[in-house]
Amino acid sequence: MKRKTQAERIRRREFIHRSATFAAGTLLLGSGSPELFGTANSKRPGAITSIETITLNNGIKMPILGFGTVYLNDDLGVRCVADAISVGYRLIDTATVYGNEASVGGGIKKSGINREELFVTSKVWVDDSGYEKAKKAFQTSLDKLGLDYLDLYLIHRPRGDVQGSWKAMEDLYNEGRIRAIGVSNFESNHLDELMSYANIKPAVNQIETHAFFQQENANIALKQYGIQQEAWSPLAQGRNGHFTNETLAAIGKKYNKNNAQVSLRWHYQRGIVAIPRSSQKAHMLENLNIFDFELDESDMHTIASLDLNITQFPEWE
Ligand SMILES: NC(=O)c1ccc[n+]([C@@H]2O[C@H](COP(=O)([O-])OP(=O)(O)OC[C@H]3O[C@@H](n4cnc5c(N)ncnc54)[C@H](OP(=O)(O)O)[C@@H]3O)[C@@H](O)[C@H]2O)c1
Repeated sequence: MKRKTQAERIRRREFIHRSATFAAGTLLLGSGSPELFGTANSKRPGAITSIETITLNNGIKMPILGFGTVYLNDDLGVRCVADAISVGYRLIDTATVYGNEASVGGGIKKSGINREELFVTSKVWVDDSGYEKAKKAFQTSLDKLGLDYLDLYLIHRPRGDVQGSWKAMEDLYNEGRIRAIGVSNFESNHLDELMSYANIKPAVNQIETHAFFQQENANIALKQYGIQQEAWSPLAQGRNGHFTNETLAAIGKKYNKNNAQVSLRWHYQRGIVAIPRSSQKAHMLENLNIFDFELDESDMHTIASLDLNITQFPEWE
């Protein structure tokens, strides 16, 4: 194995120190539970003070519920990200291709939160695939976000020079510049191929998952791989009548919850990280307010029956 340079060793040490501080911050929460992710900063009326975490296959903790930012650009993005952090979100999901990393960074700055309290994800786009391009794209993302490391960096789609991008991400991970690396929109064949050359297994696969496309097979496969599933469009962007769906509404009525909350609770009970987006503070709060009720077996079974087992976003295929 290549010997680490002095600079690399220092960077790695600093990174380990930062990770330890981050873990300690998690432990020092009011509840005393190491499985919660939150901060005193979120102790405002209506704000949730902590969000449960899952542990990724490299030991890093990730909030099980986060905030999506696609289409939240410019001033809207700054405002929404700052609002989301103020009500308690700690996982923020962005991507180069959303064109909003600077806005996300602006929102983080505006929130005044300590960097260590956040879990920030970005993704390398297809046009930037390959070793050199992916490394450059990563630095550009950091610069736009105004950050000096990412918590999670994903290959956005399994296209282009995936092997080169993965090698770049492995190197950045080993240098301590990313806390976890993963993929998005990968199917089993893509994962098998990646695993044939990878030195580091992906920690996360972010895939379309919602009531109408439940990804049951992927869920089983990802558990076997030891890769955490993360749901994009966890509310199906409201498509297929999600927010007025009568089955979800009937279940919600029992617990005084709306369709979005029932869906997000369902993701949570499946052990899937969800990253709902909203431009409205009231919705941001509703979407966090899912930890005070439990869907029973028959509810889970009923929601399973809504599966159409087909993408609701054919235009993105
Ligand atoms: N990796 C990938 O390829 C990929 C693809 C797509 C998305 N993503 C990520 O996943 C995130 C989430 O997906 P998404 O943004 O496509 O869709 P989504 O989160 O499923 O749905 C967002 C829509 O739901 C509405 N909404 C949110 N909460 C609501 C509530 N409580 N009641 C009623 N309406 C509500 C929002 O409207 P309001 O603004 O009015 O609340 C918005 O129109 C993205 O933002 C992005 O970060 C990744």
